[in-house]
Amino acid sequence: MTDIHSHILPFVDDGSDSYEKSFKMLEHAVSNGVDKIILTPHFKRRAYGQNTAKVAEEFEKFRTAVKDRNIPVKLYLGQEILCDDRLYEDLKQGNLLTLNGSKYLFLEFDYFEYADIVDFAYNVKAMGYIPVIAHIERYKYLTAKALIDLKKEGALIQVNSASVTGHYGRAFKKKVLVAIKSGLVDFVATDTHYGREECLSDAYKVVKRRFGKETADKLFITNAELFNL
Ligand SMILES: [Fe+2]
Repeated sequence: MTDIHSHILPFVDDGSDSYEKSFKMLEHAVSNGVDKIILTPHFKRRAYGQNTAKVAEEFEKFRTAVKDRNIPVKLYLGQEILCDDRLYEDLKQGNLLTLNGSKYLFLEFDYFEYADIVDFAYNVKAMGYIPVIAHIERYKYLTAKALIDLKKEGALIQVNSASVTGHYGRAFKKKVLVAIKSGLVDFVATDTHYGREECLSDAYKVVKRRFGKETADKLFITNAELFNL
């Protein structure tokens, strides 16, 4: 399986503060049947500043360390970008990373304060990128209609594995299962941080049982091929 959303890269956000912790996270992922992971540290201006250069630098060091350690997993780099009104300027300046150097941008939004996600998707597309929206179940204000509009704009949709398994509660589980059933979801991923390692294999089993192997394979394996992994 491929995990397209993770905070495993150490020292760059709230995901992990040591190589040992990050190695443990990778080993946990491998034991879950994951063989490809996109590391998607936060781009959150207020929390971590403009950390893109540091992210790229740490990625190269970490990838070498993982290879030396013989952990059988392929690593790729992206960023989970918290959108604000400076997004477009940052894109123009080349300050942000896409998913594995593709045209796909991984975007997140404030969970509680309203953001016009459809409008962001539209504008990002107009600049030549394809938006991938992180954990859509988290945005309290995102309506079912807005989710459909997002898909119409060509955005791709990710949900968290812990929502699928019910680990975040019944409301989240219901929301994501309805979205998957409606064909609105493109990826299930962990959004893992150290100390809350998620079980992608459990989520895979839930999706397979409810919607069949073909859907499960798309959401956990093959759709990620869009990012040239
Ligand atoms: Fe995340």
